[in-house]
Amino acid sequence: MKYQFSSIVKNSDPTYAQRMYALMRGEGVIALSGGNPAKEAFPEEAIEKISQKVIKEDPVSIFQYTATEGYLPLRRFISRYLQEKGGLHASPEEILITSGAQQAVALLCQIICNPGDMVICDSASYVGALNTFKCYGIKTLGAEMDEKGMIPEELERLASENEKVKMIYLIPNFQNPTGVTVPLERRKALYEVAKKHGLLIIEDNPYGELRFTGENVPSIKSFDSEDMVAYTGSFSKVVAPGLRVGYLIANPEIITAGIMFKQFSDVHTAGWSQRMCYEFFTTTDTEAHIQKIRNFYSKKCHLMLTEMEKHFPKEISWIVPEGGMFIWCTDQTKSIDIMELVQKLVKQEKVAIIPGDFFTPDPDKLTHSFRLNFTVPSEENIVTAIAKIGKVLKEVLRG
Ligand SMILES: Cc1ncc(COP(=O)(O)O)c(C=O)c1O
Repeated sequence: MKYQFSSIVKNSDPTYAQRMYALMRGEGVIALSGGNPAKEAFPEEAIEKISQKVIKEDPVSIFQYTATEGYLPLRRFISRYLQEKGGLHASPEEILITSGAQQAVALLCQIICNPGDMVICDSASYVGALNTFKCYGIKTLGAEMDEKGMIPEELERLASENEKVKMIYLIPNFQNPTGVTVPLERRKALYEVAKKHGLLIIEDNPYGELRFTGENVPSIKSFDSEDMVAYTGSFSKVVAPGLRVGYLIANPEIITAGIMFKQFSDVHTAGWSQRMCYEFFTTTDTEAHIQKIRNFYSKKCHLMLTEMEKHFPKEISWIVPEGGMFIWCTDQTKSIDIMELVQKLVKQEKVAIIPGDFFTPDPDKLTHSFRLNFTVPSEENIVTAIAKIGKVLKEVLRG
C-alpha cells in the first residue's frame, strides 16, 4: 500500500538517527558516543527484593490500571525530596508522573504550543527534545551559549525578533551535550528575560543528582515566583531508564492539561515502575546508592580528562563538567570536518564519538565540536579510545 504519511513524517528523515547509531555500533567498536547510564549503576538486587515483596503483598496495586496523575505516595515523596534537597517547593497537585522526562517535554509541547510556534534552545541541546519539538511542528531556535550556558542577550534578541516564541528549553545542570552548568546569576538573568516576554521555561533536570564536584546551584523553579517554569525530573539516571519514570512539576492548570494529554497517549505510567521507584527511595539507603554512582562517574570523568590532557592536540579545547555524563570538545581552528573525523575514527580505529552538529537546533550552524561519554566505557577502554582519538585528531589537523 502507498501510505499517506503526515507532513511531519514526509519532511523529516526518521532513519537518520538509526543510521547514525548504526555507524557507531559494530564489532569491537569502543563507544564514547552513547548517553546511557553505566550498567554498574543499576540497583538490581534492591529492585528484585522490592518487586518480590510488592507482588506478594499488594499485587493488585501494581497490576491494575491506576490514576493518570501517578501514584500519590510517589508524588508526595517527590514533593518532600525536592523541598529537602533543593528548596524546590511543589505540592503533590503540582506533580504529574510521566513516562520519563521525555514524555514531560512532549506533554508541554501539546499543552503550550500550536504547530508553527517556536521554542528557544541552547545552540547545542538534547537531541531527544529537539526532535520532539519538531515532531509537534514547533520550530527550534538556537541561542548562542558561552561557558555559563545560554547568553541572556541572545535570548532577548531571539525573543524580541520572533513573535511566535512560546517556550525556552534549558538543561541547567551538566547540560546534554556540553556538560555546562548554568550559575545562579545566569539562571536569574534568563528568568528575567523569559518573564519580560511571557515565555514558559522548560527546566529539564535529569542529571541534577549526578554532581561530583562543586556546589549545588538552586533550580530556576525554586525561585519561580510567577509560575513560569515547568520543571522535568527523572529517575532514569539514579534508578534505571528502563523503568520509564519521570515527572513534570508545574502550575496545576498545566498539570490538569497534562493529565488530559497523558490519558490520550498512555493512560498512566506503569504502576509497577512507579512503585519500584517509591519503595526504592523510601526503604533503602538511596543516598549511598547515588553517592556510589557519583564516585564511579567522577573517577571515569577524571581519567578521561587526564588522558585527553596527554593525547589531544592543543587546538582542541574542552569543558570540564561538574557532573553528568559528557565532555564537550571543540576544534578551535574550525578546520576539521567533524563528520569525516567521526567516520575515520570508526573505520580506522574502531572508536565511536558523536558529532556536535547532531545536537544543533539550526541545521546550517556548525559546532566544530564532538561529545564524549564517560559513563559507559570501561577505564581500560577510556585509555585506549582517548589515545586513538588524539592520534586521529593530530592526523586530520596536520594533514
Ligand atoms: C536532557 C535530557 N532530558 C531528558 C532525557 C530523557 O530522560 P528520561 O529517560 O527520563 O525520559 C534525557 C535522556 O538522556 C536527557 O539527556
